[in-house]
Amino acid sequence: MTAQPWWKTAVGYQVYPRSFCDSNGDGVGDLPGIASKLDYLAELGIGFIWLSPVYASPMADNGYDISDYRAIAPVFGTMDDFDSLLAQASARGIRIVMDLVVNHTSDQHAWFREAKLGRSAKYHDFYIWRDPAPDGGPPNNMKSTFGGPAWTFSPETGQYYFHLFAPAQPDLNWANPALRAEVYDMMNWWLDKGVAGFRMDVIDLIGKDPDAGIAADGPTLFAHLAEMQRAALAGRDVVTVGEAWSARPDNALAYCGADGPLSMVFQFAHVLEGWDATFGKWKATPRNLPALKRVFDTWQAALAQDGWNSLFWSNHDLPRAVSKYGDTRHRAHSAMALATVLHMMKGTPYIYQGEELGMTNTTFPTRAAFNDLEVHGAWPEMQALGLGEADFLAGANANGRDNARTPMQWSAAPQAGFTTGTPWLPVNPNHKTINAAQRHTPPSVFAHYQRLIRLRQHHPILTNGDHRPLLPDDPDIWAYTRHWQGQRLTVLANLSSETRQIALPEAGQISGQCLSHTHAPRPALGAHPAFAPWEAVAILAST
Ligand code: GLC
Repeated sequence: MTAQPWWKTAVGYQVYPRSFCDSNGDGVGDLPGIASKLDYLAELGIGFIWLSPVYASPMADNGYDISDYRAIAPVFGTMDDFDSLLAQASARGIRIVMDLVVNHTSDQHAWFREAKLGRSAKYHDFYIWRDPAPDGGPPNNMKSTFGGPAWTFSPETGQYYFHLFAPAQPDLNWANPALRAEVYDMMNWWLDKGVAGFRMDVIDLIGKDPDAGIAADGPTLFAHLAEMQRAALAGRDVVTVGEAWSARPDNALAYCGADGPLSMVFQFAHVLEGWDATFGKWKATPRNLPALKRVFDTWQAALAQDGWNSLFWSNHDLPRAVSKYGDTRHRAHSAMALATVLHMMKGTPYIYQGEELGMTNTTFPTRAAFNDLEVHGAWPEMQALGLGEADFLAGANANGRDNARTPMQWSAAPQAGFTTGTPWLPVNPNHKTINAAQRHTPPSVFAHYQRLIRLRQHHPILTNGDHRPLLPDDPDIWAYTRHWQGQRLTVLANLSSETRQIALPEAGQISGQCLSHTHAPRPALGAHPAFAPWEAVAILAST
């Protein structure tokens, strides 16, 4: 048997640089700040960092609008700072995975500045231009994810350019082989530096056909990915994870099956399941545990033999896991129980910065208090659909992206020890009690994550075992087993704030080694064990 790729036993950790650690007091996190926290990350035990964009950018979308792919934004530091971070991380056995944002650039990228000068300008064909409709309006009615039309008129050319995100984020023209060659060249440049791979931003959009109204999952998507694989990734020991909101169990293997171009995708079915049918994320909806479990069960089954799952609750675009799926009145235990059910599944788990401390959503009292352009773009559209202001505010508080972006809570000090200056986004007032300095105080969410990460490294059943759901319709209990080479791992969690008896199908049969627990270890379970609110265990037994 060939050795497992390293990324099947490693746990990823997402750093959102702007909000992680500020070394120079300007209120924005930076690369030296990240370097200063590598010992913390090594203590946690992670295998690799997914670094959200640190490239040169005017920051219309906090770095997801890149103006130079081979330069570091001054607010984050210098290329020397980057090289030093890479070396210091590597010395601790931590790899760095870059964010690859190649669906679009910033409108300040040299390519776009040139492209918009005229129809025969050098880089004109690096972007997507169309003539106005006969009435002078946009070529069609495609919409931008951040609100408004996906087309913006550019007077110099007399044409509209296409952008699936903000007007400041023009989409690249992947139909142009010269553009594709530039992207692969840039990827090779970073890989030659020693980065360990890429998280590929909205990669399911690069095969788009704007004339046919197709954004995600377009006709040329897999041809582009196959070409990228040959041109930049083949023969390299790297991990690639494609952000693919449109990925489904029935096309996931085309991304990450044995012959697929990527290691895995970030699939979002579990996130979308919790969104309102009309208002999407902008209307808060109650948790539906059976539906949520069904999504994970389906994905575990779809990629059981071939392919590979990513496992995540949160990222910089999603609310804090404990606020979304847990109960902040049982904050530590609900964070630990949620971590247990996720990390014991098959796949590569990702931790979003602060999740390992049980950081929570914050409160934005008004619409104006939000920083994120997405909130401001969404409001007029939701209002037009009939959502009231109070409901919108509640939805944005529940699901808005700024929740994940409040500064990392390092200590109880002013500004949570994140900065000596004024943070770009206010720190959550609860940093006085929720912070890394207190990470060893029981019940310790951090220690629980440490343990889960270590278990993955020591128990091959976690990487290899199959996954069998139990009690799928139970509204509070998340339960499943994993099986591998004469071992069975039983994972049981009460994801509710009431004490619950669990009616196990194999009553009284479960005993073995309690690998993980949130309350007290349980080496054996009786027929109808009573589980405390947010209690979770994982028990390993021989079969
Ligand atoms: C992805 C990123 C998000 C960004 C968008 C446009 O969804 O995760 O933060 O706004 O792409 O790049």
